[in-house]
Amino acid sequence: MQNTIDTIYDRRSIRKFTDKEVNPDLVDEVLRAGLFAPSGYNRQPWDFVVFNENDIIKEIKEMHPYSSSLATAPVCIMVCGDTQKELAEGFYQVDCSAAIENMLLAAKALGLDTCWMGIYPWEEVMAAFSKRFNLPENNKPFALIALGYGDEKKERPKRYDTTKIHYNKW
Ligand SMILES: Cc1cc2nc3c(=O)[nH]c(=O)nc-3n(C[C@H](O)[C@H](O)[C@H](O)COP(=O)(O)O)c2cc1C
Repeated sequence: MQNTIDTIYDRRSIRKFTDKEVNPDLVDEVLRAGLFAPSGYNRQPWDFVVFNENDIIKEIKEMHPYSSSLATAPVCIMVCGDTQKELAEGFYQVDCSAAIENMLLAAKALGLDTCWMGIYPWEEVMAAFSKRFNLPENNKPFALIALGYGDEKKERPKRYDTTKIHYNKW
């Protein structure tokens, strides 16, 4: 397993996957990492819907305008936010983002690759997912994660931009 710092630097959005299946125990480990994320007042206002059947993943691909990764991903996780559990309006989006990043990094550490695809804040896309999956009124589709074994290599980018870092004053 990769060390945490290298995992953070080497995680990339991968949009082409091999046809190798993902062991359900690994999927479970990724989900578990999501459940361990920090959240406002520890409200944990998230639910994860796992899709691992080809037909439904292909259908989801048609519902999302920027989901090329789903053409080959063997697993897709839909992350939903709960407006009844969040600390206050606007928290579920932040909390779900923390859960997603945990899952992306856990996947990378386990030798898997991912791509985060936003659903929120596109109202039309949110409405389509809510309707298709009969989501309860308080559970909002937030994002998708494509998960699998990457079939493309991406270099570690140069992102260490010191102009974005400020000490003691802006
Ligand atoms: C909120 C959010 C929404 C994103 N939505 C999409 C998307 O709809 N489709 C996609 O292919 N990638 C999506 N991405 C991935 C970004 O394009 C990617 O993180 C960015 O280009 C940086 O590349 P990296 O992830 O390899 O570091 C999204 C990422 C974030 C954080």
